[in-house]
Amino acid sequence: MKTQKTTVGSINSDMLAFTAGRDVELDMNLIVADCIGTAAHVTMLSKMKPAIITAAEKKKVIRELNAIVVLAAEGKFKIRLADQDVHLAVERTLTEKLGDLGKKVHTCRSRNDQVAVDLRLYAREEMLGTLDEAAALISALLAFAKKNEKVPMVGRTHMQPGMPSSVGLWAAAHAESLLDDCALLVNAFELNDQCPLGSAASYGVPLPIDRELTADLLGFSRPSHTVLYANNGRGKLESIVLGAMSQVMLSLSRMAQDLMLFTMPEFGYFTLPDELCTGSSIMPQKKNPDVIELVRARASRVKACELAVYDLVKGSAGGYNRDLQDAKEPFMEGIATTRACLRVLAPFVQAIRVNKEKLLAGFTPDVFATDRALELVGQGMPFRDAYQYVKENLGELANMDPVKAILQKTHLGAPLGIDWELLKDRASAVVETVREERRVIDRAVSKLMKG
Ligand code: ARG
Repeated sequence: MKTQKTTVGSINSDMLAFTAGRDVELDMNLIVADCIGTAAHVTMLSKMKPAIITAAEKKKVIRELNAIVVLAAEGKFKIRLADQDVHLAVERTLTEKLGDLGKKVHTCRSRNDQVAVDLRLYAREEMLGTLDEAAALISALLAFAKKNEKVPMVGRTHMQPGMPSSVGLWAAAHAESLLDDCALLVNAFELNDQCPLGSAASYGVPLPIDRELTADLLGFSRPSHTVLYANNGRGKLESIVLGAMSQVMLSLSRMAQDLMLFTMPEFGYFTLPDELCTGSSIMPQKKNPDVIELVRARASRVKACELAVYDLVKGSAGGYNRDLQDAKEPFMEGIATTRACLRVLAPFVQAIRVNKEKLLAGFTPDVFATDRALELVGQGMPFRDAYQYVKENLGELANMDPVKAILQKTHLGAPLGIDWELLKDRASAVVETVREERRVIDRAVSKLMKG
């Protein structure tokens, strides 16, 4: 059996490849985070009493960390199998450049708290991006809804025709669902906003490190408290974030399903422009809504990612276990998939064409049965009697004017009672939260990286 020398000792080559797993590729997504986390750590080391490194040495390390960030942006920073992961690749590079100084960087730190902080730095960027993309889709939906506020659409329950409704209500409802998902994402963001750095292997260190300082330097609201939960929180945090992502996907999947139905020629409520559809290799006439079918499929994928992480940690003993490494792949995949779906749907919604005639043609007299019963109530008949009367005389129902029918529904949240300002304010609050969080993060990180 072949033994391979690694950045930290020797190991059988097959064991090395097996344990490193996909980290060598996936950790490419964590290079910047690892450099920022390391910059905060060495800054803290330089302020300890007695200091582990001098202020001048700290500057040198941060200069090299910035160089790594530049290399990474050019696609030139390499993580070797012998490094196992980004953490040791960065430490090796620092040692190559700075000699003994590079060897001091890992003082009072473990790869366990290092990866935990990297993932939180990664997660916060990704969540802010997700919120931005969700806000863009919400605003596309709201614009579409407002434009079609007075366009009637048969409202369905059990998929069967129910009552007069509007295209505006349909679209505004999907926007509102996403607004709730944004609230979950913001919640996940707040839970993520705690710095695990300094928890080391899971049990802290015997030297007086300053965890408040590193949290602050990185732009986190606070350090996570117990050093053990800082590590046990790995995996849990990922499943919280993916939980919010899978709620986003649930909203998107339901909207996609509606769109598939409503774009069927049998409905024809909406049409999709050709450039958003795919063709068939055999049927020349085909224009298929593959995009939304895949959004539906990917909702399952994201949920599977969430469950994969949940399953990994549910039986995990306290303190770091290597199993946690395997949460990285579903974590990154689940986030990337959700974001891709949000991005593809915003222009999709903007391009939907509404076919008023087809929508009106869906109105048969029975759709007005409930409205008629309530009309009788207005004339003094008890509701159950009116209901019974209409039920027994469905044949008498005349086809009422669908536009008039929805114009009458003006109470809170009804087709003509949608509070557009309320929905828009919620969407703006999302954008504002992202802007504010980015401001805090960017200010902290750029100050930190100036050394
Ligand atoms: N690549 C590892 C992970 O993602 C880093 C932490 C390794 N820690 C350890 N004790 N082996 O979990």
